[in-house]
Amino acid sequence: MPAEQRPGVTVFLTGLSGAGKSTIADALVADLEAEGRPVTVLDGDVVRTHLSSELSFSREDRDLNIRRIGFVAGEVVKHGGTVVVAAIAPYEAAREEARALVERHGRFVLVHLSTPLAVCEGRDVKGLYARARAGQLSGFTGIDDPYEPPARAEVVIDTAQTPLPESVARIREAIDGATAPVP
Ligand code: ADX
Repeated sequence: MPAEQRPGVTVFLTGLSGAGKSTIADALVADLEAEGRPVTVLDGDVVRTHLSSELSFSREDRDLNIRRIGFVAGEVVKHGGTVVVAAIAPYEAAREEARALVERHGRFVLVHLSTPLAVCEGRDVKGLYARARAGQLSGFTGIDDPYEPPARAEVVIDTAQTPLPESVARIREAIDGATAPVP
């Protein structure tokens, strides 16, 4: 669809640390940008450096972090933009708040990366699971802090079972379906 006719869309990747959010975000962004479609990326680690640097990992602060992300995504979607969010976003209520902030202006596609904890912990790219298990890091999602699985995700992907190109293709299908012209 020509860019000027296309409604804005936010793809919101949620899941445990190590579930594959950043990997899928990178591949999805490359795929979209290859078509000349610019993308705004809101990655949890980057947002926490630039926009939410004062926030902790308490429930209250995680919720505020996700609300901020939802607000920014909504502002971009308002002007027809494409946003890719990658954040743990462990609480259902905050994810639904982000959805509401975006859906005022455009489409919201929630992608739950349901990769099992054991797989995420086995990957332990940042060594944080080991630190959490050793008691050096408390309140770590999946270990001693909750992750509420989404009740309504548009796409559910277990990255232990699904090759990266297939994950990207499934999300693209959801995006392109979401932007199909109304007959
Ligand atoms: S969220 O809960 O507020 O959505 P966000 O996605 O921004 O989290 O940040 C998660 C990143 O922060 C993780 O990838 C990890 O590197 C780091 N981190 C540090 N402490 C924690 C913790 N207690 N729980 C989860 N992630 C943590």
